[in-house]
Amino acid sequence: MLNTITEGILKWKAAREAEKTCRAVTVAVCSRKGGVGKTTATVHLAVAAARWHARRVLVVDMDPQGHVVTALSSFVRRDTASALSSVFMEKKGDLLEAAIPTDIPNLWVVPADDRLEQVQMLLATRIGREFILKSVLQKAEDMFDLILIDCPPNLDTLTLNALVAAHQVVIPTDLSLLGVEGVSDIVEAIETVRERLGLPLLVGGVLVTRVDSRNRAINRELDRMLEQRFGNLLFTSRVPNNTALPRACLEGRPVFDFDPGCRGAQGYLDATEELLDRIDA
Ligand SMILES: Nc1ncnc2c1ncn2[C@@H]1O[C@H](COP(=O)(O)OP(=O)(O)O)[C@@H](O)[C@H]1O
Ligand SMILES: [Mg+2]
Repeated sequence: MLNTITEGILKWKAAREAEKTCRAVTVAVCSRKGGVGKTTATVHLAVAAARWHARRVLVVDMDPQGHVVTALSSFVRRDTASALSSVFMEKKGDLLEAAIPTDIPNLWVVPADDRLEQVQMLLATRIGREFILKSVLQKAEDMFDLILIDCPPNLDTLTLNALVAAHQVVIPTDLSLLGVEGVSDIVEAIETVRERLGLPLLVGGVLVTRVDSRNRAINRELDRMLEQRFGNLLFTSRVPNNTALPRACLEGRPVFDFDPGCRGAQGYLDATEELLDRIDA
């Protein structure tokens, strides 16, 4: 009898452990520089992970500009979900209340809303304001395999919430000096979160985007700088400058649907595989 009970408890524990390993990995996509491809990267990594890697993916748009839904407008069904800003202001908010399904199987989105900017100011006096997203994400982490957070181009309260909530950070950059400086700023912020708040936040990788292969001399110089500063944190995959990406965005579709054979699509397929390999390792 005792053996049966012990066996039962062991099985239950093993099941709980297995559940734990099923919990989502949360990745913030972050850079201080605007226009480097944060939103494009978030959307394409999410779509590729949902479609070709069978991951259940949730995209959270923390940028008040709300470009995630713009980029996916052909696939997002506006349901009657709560606004992200309301979830932030509730005492015991649950992010799942603001999540809406898309027509892409396995892919859900939490859209940004107009009041997100004000939320930042309203939170100014609240104790523990950097921990709100982490707290409202808890239930979602049991429902999804991968949560990607698109961040605004700064290090304000909304971005800090994303860093505190995340396990890893993907930092997109273009090949410009300001882009590279922007990566250093985020790496420093990640170290601060780790040291001051005691959270095990990791740099998931630095993703070079918008590479214009015609700028050979400048690219070489910036490549050297990136290699020196970030070494093996750099993704091997790179996303070239490819007009199919903004054109697909205008139609509210991922580039995989707009021009599946283009170099931008290939870049993001490779980057997704690399991200998932890094996460699984
Ligand atoms: N690899 C690329 N090649 C060409 N245009 C790109 C590429 N990545 C993004 N873009 C375009 O650049 C603009 C800014 O990209 P976005 O992803 O919104 O940057 P961020 O979120 O960092 O501000 C958008 O119009 C987008 O379509
Ligand atoms: Mg953006």
